[in-house]
Amino acid sequence: MSSALKGKRILLGITGSIAAYKAAMLARLFIKAGAEVQVLMTAAAADFIAPLTLSTLSKRPVYSEVSSESGWHNHVELGLWADAMVIAPATANTLAKMAHGMCDNILTACYLSARCPVFFAPAMDLDMWRHPATQANVRQLEQFGHRLIPPASGELASGLHGEGRMAEPESILEFLEKSLQAANQDLSGINLLITAGPTFEAIDPVRFIGNRSSGKMGVAIANAAAARGADVTLILGPSQERPDSRVRLIRVESALEMHAEALKRWPDSQAAILSAAVADYRPAEAATEKIKKSQDSLSIQLVKNPDIAADLGKQKVNGQMLVGFALETHDAEAQAKQKLERKNFDFIVLNTLTDPGAGFHHDTNKITIFFRDNKRLDFQLKSKQEVAADILDALASILARG
Ligand code: C5P
Repeated sequence: MSSALKGKRILLGITGSIAAYKAAMLARLFIKAGAEVQVLMTAAAADFIAPLTLSTLSKRPVYSEVSSESGWHNHVELGLWADAMVIAPATANTLAKMAHGMCDNILTACYLSARCPVFFAPAMDLDMWRHPATQANVRQLEQFGHRLIPPASGELASGLHGEGRMAEPESILEFLEKSLQAANQDLSGINLLITAGPTFEAIDPVRFIGNRSSGKMGVAIANAAAARGADVTLILGPSQERPDSRVRLIRVESALEMHAEALKRWPDSQAAILSAAVADYRPAEAATEKIKKSQDSLSIQLVKNPDIAADLGKQKVNGQMLVGFALETHDAEAQAKQKLERKNFDFIVLNTLTDPGAGFHHDTNKITIFFRDNKRLDFQLKSKQEVAADILDALASILARG
């Protein structure tokens, strides 16, 4: 299959991180995929990898200054030339400059001039990555519409373990190929409501009852649907995940808040995908003050939460589609089919918890979809992004049939 990068012009910006040595492999992969690559390097990057390596690989001179003996490098022209700009590795310093419009080198000057999609793959130590200043800069860049290629976890150059390693060149290539593929717009014009994440049910001002849902599956669905043209509203419980800037995000904490937001938005939606792990029960009353540990035992009275899915199912009108999830540990198929009926879903996605790599906190998932006409679709273990695409394919095909 021909790569989405074939014939594309890519500005590859390399900044001063130890991960710069991987940029040679990245340039090579881009070129193998059929792209033309123009390398830009900051002065600090040249301390980590020789510009000669990159000019040899890319068969083009590497630019590391706005002007040099060979003349002035027109950053505006370079910015317009490119079909995509990829900054990999992107240091905390360069991210900060980009977020604030500073352009004191050829890379940042080209960045400010570029009209093409911009991708950035951060690489830094875990504390620099976690710092609120870096996180705020990343959010800002995402708000500009640029795409974060998230860093991975592992051993860092400092010897510390954690998040901050630049994504591997193969993952960067795959990310770029997926993003540059002519996006399928089969969900354009669809108002899609999504619930995701856990809910937290307050016991007192500092404690809650929660669950281990990460929100990853629902956020992946929201991002994929927005890329396919849907107008997406995501009601997200307490989760570390952040959707793309194209997704309308409503943050909630409790099941009652999620219920109220979902019911308010359902009449204006053509479809809803309910992936949230909503707490079944909440404390009957949340104490207004922190509960003291004065007694030897403590009982908390729980009351049932509303079933958001069932309530949307009751209000569903012709033409609206409702999709639910089931996570079962025994008699999974029968349980999922019962839920499909009871909650008036159009189809239900059963998560197979027994397979390694499936379910909470994993980046992969294995699903089976059950439809109302008894049809079923079984899928292999896949990344949550691919699973999201499978679920949206099922939704799109039913919507297309009207
Ligand atoms: O009944 P159970 O929790 O297994 O049902 C799972 C499905 O119902 C999921 O789609 C979940 O998002 C939804 N649900 C809901 N509100 C609840 C409980 C579950 O929307 N209170």
